[in-house]
Amino acid sequence: MDQHRPHNPNSSYRRHRSEDKRERGDGWRNPNENKHLKPNHHQHQSGATPEQKPLSCPSLSTRRELYERDFPLYKQPVEVGCFSLDAERRFFNDSRQMRYFVEPDRNPNFDLRDGYKGRYVKRDDSVREKLDHILRWIVANRSKLDSSATTASSRALDVDFVTWRGHLTKLLTTPYETREGWLLAVTRFSGTLYISEVETEAAQRERDNRTERHEEMMYWGYKFEQYTCADNPDSLPDPSGVVNTNEAFCTVVQTRLADHRLLFSGEVDCRDKDPDAPAPPACYVELKTSAEICTPKQRSNLHRFKLLKWWAQSFLPGVPRVVAGFRDHEGVVVSMETFHISKISHLIKNEYNCWKPTVCMNFCSDFMSFVKHMATEDNPR
Ligand code: A3P
Ligand code: MG
Repeated sequence: MDQHRPHNPNSSYRRHRSEDKRERGDGWRNPNENKHLKPNHHQHQSGATPEQKPLSCPSLSTRRELYERDFPLYKQPVEVGCFSLDAERRFFNDSRQMRYFVEPDRNPNFDLRDGYKGRYVKRDDSVREKLDHILRWIVANRSKLDSSATTASSRALDVDFVTWRGHLTKLLTTPYETREGWLLAVTRFSGTLYISEVETEAAQRERDNRTERHEEMMYWGYKFEQYTCADNPDSLPDPSGVVNTNEAFCTVVQTRLADHRLLFSGEVDCRDKDPDAPAPPACYVELKTSAEICTPKQRSNLHRFKLLKWWAQSFLPGVPRVVAGFRDHEGVVVSMETFHISKISHLIKNEYNCWKPTVCMNFCSDFMSFVKHMATEDNPR
């Protein structure tokens, strides 16, 4: 297949180095090591034909056109468990950090800047948590994962891939991403492939050089969560409290993409507080903030760029709706809108040259086939 086209490892390596400087991921660094995987945007840009590529280094193209085929099988995700991280980022094998959505007014006037100076505890994002929390959950819940076919003596997990939902979101959006590269590490252990992200140099530079405005705007999204979430089904949000971004409630879901059995976890903002709401993940609500929309061009940009990320993030774990707060330049939420994930493909149909869900899912599926093919050595170390 095209995406498994041979690729010259030496010239590819040199291009890596120069492209890295321009903050762009490309081909596969070293196929024998099968550790660090980067998307091959170079191939996309070079327009080289398969005949021009010398044999030896397999690669996977990110060209959109290659993935425009029927939507692959994606089984309804099933929640197999959940966990919580407390204010000190400690793991708990329960739902203590679950929050309950309280529908705001259509024009709520939430001040997202409130509390930034003084009532904000920011998670230390230089700490590399890797897959640790998911692995803790797996160790504590082995019995829930073992299929009837799995005997007590066989310690293999009944899944092909274990990863974070956020890593999968990045894979889904890769055919449309022209700015942010990524680097994923993979290891095969007892037949299961574990995929974890490694921060790129470009991402680290960006993290180290954030402007004060950017730092504050990162707070706004969490502050919006505080305005719209209560700690109990029958209490109200408390915007006078502290925003602590160490705290998280995470769902763990199992599903299948084509012939890849997946187990992944993702943070969930809140759930429907109605006790008769459908079972998780169908009762979950994703919260988002975005700049206020004043022109048709801005609406179109929301559809073309933001909805891609919102759709990918929520579609993966089966979260059915995104509630968005639109804010002005001073960080005041001036309006609200709900986006149903199942309706987003219709919303974007009239946008010229827009993203397509099928391209995202087919790329992810082919990426997983590629990883299975490359990471063959089962080595516990
Ligand atoms: P917004 O998405 O409303 O901007 P999530 O929506 O994924 O639950 O994330 C909650 C908030 O975390 C975001 O709210 C944003 O404020 C912050 N955040 C998440 N990922 C980020 C990123 N890559 N860069 C900057 N801020 C981020
Ligand atoms: Mg959110």
